[in-house]
Amino acid sequence: MSSFESKVREALSQPLNQGEMGDADAVGTVGSPECGDMLRMWLKFTEKDGRKVIDRASFQAFGCQTAIAVASMATELLRGKTADEARHLTAQDLAGDLGALPPMKIHCGQLVEGALRNALDQSSPATPSAAPANATTLSEDMHRKPGGKIRIVPLE
Ligand code: FES
Repeated sequence: MSSFESKVREALSQPLNQGEMGDADAVGTVGSPECGDMLRMWLKFTEKDGRKVIDRASFQAFGCQTAIAVASMATELLRGKTADEARHLTAQDLAGDLGALPPMKIHCGQLVEGALRNALDQSSPATPSAAPANATTLSEDMHRKPGGKIRIVPLE
């Protein structure tokens, strides 16, 4: 087993920050047309030293183990980052201690990156509180007929 695989297994044994965040300031959801997996990320901001930074991040995933492991890492890594700093993080950055994403797993990391960017778009000054009060669950969105609220983002 490669070092990457063993780190993914380790992360999966206790995924961090999993679950819906009721008081989130922003939520982003993406689906991968490549594999059909979906990931949703919630962000909560706070003021620190005069800067608006991410206080907490959480996620739900219908995805492979790599996407879950990267999301677990990412939600820890995002704490204390401004929206601008977070926006510049790549899938590889978000994988953190997992190490280099194997070529076949890059799109799994990009699923996390896409959900983060989607959430950051929702939290831009133009849309200050975009987390919908009556948000559907990721499971409901998975089974929703085409044309629903979910935004499917093609990941490069
Ligand atoms: Fe779909 Fe990893 S195989 S996100």
